Amino acid sequence: MATFTSSTVEIPPERRIPRHVAVIMDGNGRWARQRRLPRVAGHRQGVKAVREVVRACGERGVDYLTLFAFSSENWRRPAEEVTFLMQLFVVALEQEVGKLHENGIRFKLIGDLSRFEPRLVRLAREAEALTAANQRLTLTIAANYGGRWDVLQAANRMLREHPRLAAGFTEGDLTPYLALNYAPEPDLFIRTGGEQRISNFVLWQLAYTELYFTDTLWPDFDAAALDRAIISYQQRERRFGRTSEQLPAGTGLADFRVGSFRPGE
Ligand code: IPE
Ligand code: IPE
Ligand code: MG
Repeated sequence: MATFTSSTVEIPPERRIPRHVAVIMDGNGRWARQRRLPRVAGHRQGVKAVREVVRACGERGVDYLTLFAFSSENWRRPAEEVTFLMQLFVVALEQEVGKLHENGIRFKLIGDLSRFEPRLVRLAREAEALTAANQRLTLTIAANYGGRWDVLQAANRMLREHPRLAAGFTEGDLTPYLALNYAPEPDLFIRTGGEQRISNFVLWQLAYTELYFTDTLWPDFDAAALDRAIISYQQRERRFGRTSEQLPAGTGLADFRVGSFRPGE
């Protein structure tokens, strides 16, 4: 397994295009309500936005895209909405996996899968196996995922395998057990739908992630909206605890370009 820089242990490499983008796709219900449609129509439309953002991330050179599809707290929703979402996951998986594979996308599903129906888990595992060697973009869907669940399951698994670590452990001991152990820490976090909160999404690895909030509702989020988020990211100065003056000249996000993406074009 590749190991990645921890932002609290070392300064991660800078890249003008974020290597890892993590998104809370929020606002489906409000999108539907604005159109006097049932909430589930918003979820259905949300799948179209997923398709477009996956494509755009691949084109722009993003290496990892992590999408929050269902939180460990979303079970609190009305039963019929939960059931609809589960069916939508199954249908979307069945329909999209072939296209993901053709486009060189590696698929991953993270979260506590114990509450999902076996058919969904089987489909997801098959999709992971089919696409395991793809290298263009790693698309992770976080379902029944919670940031606290993740840290706890990681600590519990680590301690089961290495009981002596109960006496004390380091970041390096713990992080290989986190669900996203195959990805660098997110560079850019996006939340659509206007709320400015993390809602128990990735917690540990957001330590130094640049946060971007937009009022755009998820079904309306498209490639142009993604570019606005990336441009905002490119205007940030990532200091990781240092002063501005300490940053090496010529390495700031605004100072160089990677790939073909030109802001504003
Ligand atoms: C996000 O949209 C999708 C999921 C949480 C599954 P919402 O369903 O939360 O939409 P709003 O926030 O009610 O508009
Ligand atoms: C966060 O959205 C979870 C997902 C997008 C999957 P919610 O709509 O559930 O978040 P809260 O409840 O408004 O914080
Ligand atoms: Mg919401």
